[in-house]
Amino acid sequence: MNTDAPLADRLAARMRAEGPISYAAFLDAALYDDHDGFYARHGSAGRRGDFITSPEVGPLFGAVLAHAIDDWWRDAGEPPLWRVVECGAGRGTLARAVLAARPDCLDALEYVLVERSDRLRTGHPDSAGCRSVAALPTDAAPGVVIANELLDNLAFAVRERHEGEWREVLVDVDADGAFIEMIGPPDDRPWPAADDGARLPVQEAAGDWLRDALRLAAPGRVVVIDYAATSAEMAARPWSDWVRTYRAHERGGHPLEGPGLQDVTVDVAVDQLAAVRPPTRDRAQADFLRAHGIDALVAEGRRVWDERAHLGDLAALRARSRVREADALLDPAGLGGFRVLEWAVD
Ligand SMILES: C[S@@+](CC[C@H](N)C(=O)[O-])C[C@H]1O[C@@H](n2cnc3c(N)ncnc32)[C@H](O)[C@@H]1O
Repeated sequence: MNTDAPLADRLAARMRAEGPISYAAFLDAALYDDHDGFYARHGSAGRRGDFITSPEVGPLFGAVLAHAIDDWWRDAGEPPLWRVVECGAGRGTLARAVLAARPDCLDALEYVLVERSDRLRTGHPDSAGCRSVAALPTDAAPGVVIANELLDNLAFAVRERHEGEWREVLVDVDADGAFIEMIGPPDDRPWPAADDGARLPVQEAAGDWLRDALRLAAPGRVVVIDYAATSAEMAARPWSDWVRTYRAHERGGHPLEGPGLQDVTVDVAVDQLAAVRPPTRDRAQADFLRAHGIDALVAEGRRVWDERAHLGDLAALRARSRVREADALLDPAGLGGFRVLEWAVD
């Protein structure tokens, strides 16, 4: 196949030669094709990027996570090597904030940034104890595997309810070269019952990722931070509620439009992850951040701002920013309502 041709042409040629493909295959190419995938070419988090994530709100999220990493290190008996594997590290913003907060475990800390996009890996920090790789390590070590807004970005398949059974939704190309959906074979797994026309995502890549992550942090934990729902909840809502597309901070078009030109994200199906292994803990991001000390960091920010506001120096501005960041990170209708799922590993 001609890899110089635009992605849409290559996908269309593949469908004409091989027949319809799964949504998962289409989305994996749209997001991660080496030449034209959204993350290969344009996509990133941040104010100048396509969407804002908790680390991109400012350094406070990383400072709280540094406390969490210390708490988990102490729980594990302060081992001399404590490996943090951050998967889907994007531009490396979270890693920079965690390291800048100088966690107590710093001398034991090996921080591994895992990022599939070559382009984004070039911006990763290059400090001692830090390394940047394209795929999860394969060896186990004591520590933590963390994924912030990774699993919502992994390719997923789609099922649709037809005459009382769930059937796969496939992607084909019409005579004009437009991508179209077609109904494929039935799926007789015990998905929740729903009205005809209902849809749900099947998140095999997220399940595979969790299986791999659980083998890595031993002993330790896997921590997934994301927007989430159950398969049954999603089947009861229009699919446009739980599949979202973005480009440059604007909502994008239908997920089949312009492969590579828009981000495609999905609510993470907690029950599908729990089928791999039930999480040890599932709480809202606001509760997680409070449990690991956000309130004390914000109180310190308020104190510094009160003392230094009249100076208007960098320390004063940083302190004021911390208070604003906390509002965004704790907002129950926004980032504060994200789920934090934890799996403790012996
Ligand atoms: C929505 S962004 C989140 C970035 C960052 N964690 C944040 O919160 O700002 C998801 C990132 O995961 C990366 N990614 C997707 N699949 C991956 C995989 N299997 N391994 C490593 N990185 C992956 C994408 O390239 C993208 O940079």
